[in-house]
Parts: sequence; C-alpha cells; structure tokens
Amino acid sequence: MKDWDPDLYNRFRAYRAEPFHAVLKRLELGPAHEILDLGCGSGENTIELARRAPHGRALGIDSSPAMIARANAAKAGLTEQLAARVDFRLGEIGAFASSDRYSVVFSNAALHWVKDHRRTLQACYRLLRPGGRLVVQMPANNEETAQITLSVLAAESPWRDFTGRIQVPSATVQTPQYYTCLLKGLGYTDVDCYYQVFAHPMNGPDDVVQWSRATVLRPFLDAIPEARREEFVAQWRTRLQAAYGTSGPFTFNFRRIFLWARRRTD
Ligand SMILES: C[S@@+](CC[C@H](N)C(=O)[O-])C[C@H]1O[C@@H](n2cnc3c(N)ncnc32)[C@H](O)[C@@H]1O
Repeated sequence: MKDWDPDLYNRFRAYRAEPFHAVLKRLELGPAHEILDLGCGSGENTIELARRAPHGRALGIDSSPAMIARANAAKAGLTEQLAARVDFRLGEIGAFASSDRYSVVFSNAALHWVKDHRRTLQACYRLLRPGGRLVVQMPANNEETAQITLSVLAAESPWRDFTGRIQVPSATVQTPQYYTCLLKGLGYTDVDCYYQVFAHPMNGPDDVVQWSRATVLRPFLDAIPEARREEFVAQWRTRLQAAYGTSGPFTFNFRRIFLWARRRTD
C-alpha cells in the first residue's frame, strides 16, 4: 500500500486528538515510566507521554517511513533532555519483539490495521512489566453511515472488480464484551473495555471524504486504477450527501473502543 501522508492525516488533528486527551485524563503516569507506543504515527502522542514521565522513556514504533521521518523531525525540535528520552523506530507491530519490559503499552488508532488481535494483545502482555498498563484505542465505527456507504459502493459493479475483497479497517474490531473475555483469558487483570462516541461538527460530507483520504479510503483507492479514483470518490460523495441528507454542515459521530488492562503482579 502507498505510504501514509502525515500532512493529510493531521489536517483534522484537533478532532483526532480527542481520544488521546480522554486517555490522558485517566492514565496515571509514574515519573520513571517506560512507555511503548505501537503505531505511533507522527509521534506527537509518544512525545507527550514522555513529557509526562520526566524520568522515563518512550519508544514509538510505526511501519510508515513517512510517519517515522515526521516523528524524528518532531524529536529534533525538542529540548535535549526530552529528546534523549524519546525514540522512534520503523517496524511492524506484529514483528516487534524486545527483551525490554514497559510500564505502559499504548496504541492509539492503529491496532485496527492489524488483523490478529489475540496474537497482538498476547504479545503486549509479554512486553509489559508486572502491574504494567495496556491502553488501546481503536475506531469502532464500521456501522457508521460513511463506512457503510463506502463498503456498499466498493462491493458494487464496476468497483467490486478492484475493491470487492477490501474491508474498512475497523471491520477487524470486535465488541467491548469480546475484548473483555479475550484480555481476561490472556491473563490481564483490571480489564475495562467500552465505547465512546466523539461528535465532530463538519462543514459537510466532503469533510468526511477529506478525513477519510488519510485513513479508511487508502486501501480502496490503492486498488483502483489511478485514472478512475476520483470517479469513485465522487460517487461516494454523492452517496454521503444522500445518506446524511445534506451537502452542508452536520455532526460526524465517530465511535471508538477503549481497552484498559494490566499485567498481573504475581
Ligand atoms: C491512524 S494513524 C495513528 C497514529 C498515531 N497513533 C496517532 O494517534 O496520531 C495509524 C498509524 O498506524 C500505523 N500502522 C498501521 N499498521 C501498522 C503495523 N502493522 N505496524 C506498525 N504500524 C502500523 C500507520 O503507519 C499509521 O502511522
């Protein structure tokens, strides 16, 4: 798949940051905490976590060269003291292994791109210190209007010849009940999994198209020949207007799932 575009992704940074702020309100960070950020993107969250653990360290992992380059550019602008406690590394979440153990394994809006959640959450358990915290946030909005209209369009002729087997990434995301059972079964304790809906005022359905170009649209557009991509987008925009019932302002409701758990202390 074509690489991520950090500028496009950060165009709606204020809205995309809301779930991270929700995490910050709840996460108690010890001064010496060692933090691992899986799918760190352009690194803003990793840096903020390191800032809040003034004697700790934070490592961000991401498979996108463009995102890691942007994260390293952000690191270059930090004070020497903070920069010394932050690292970014190019890598696949599924392949990440380390003999280091972390007090917090964190992932914001990334694990829905990884298919095998059992394996991933099991690996996270091994990466945690006893008593260490798992904190995961993923979009869980595959039943939202934008995602449904996109999935339906992609399954219709002529697009299905290109996109017929592609799913929206949050199709991999299960329910809070599912993750509660899974995490307990993997040995985690203090498990708390829940949905939270974030209400984003938009100027119109085209804002949803622009929002999605950085994320959910990527695999679909990659599969369509370049000359026909904007035709697909135009058809989706028309369907969004019909489904939301407006070409003007409306509220884009974005459901997300939060997973909180700890590694056992014994
Ligand atoms: C939606 S962005 C979120 C970035 C960041 N966590 C944030 O909250 O701003 C998703 C990130 O996950 C990364 N990603 C997706 N699949 C990945 C994988 N299998 N291994 C490592 N990184 C991955 C992408 O490269 C992208 O930077």
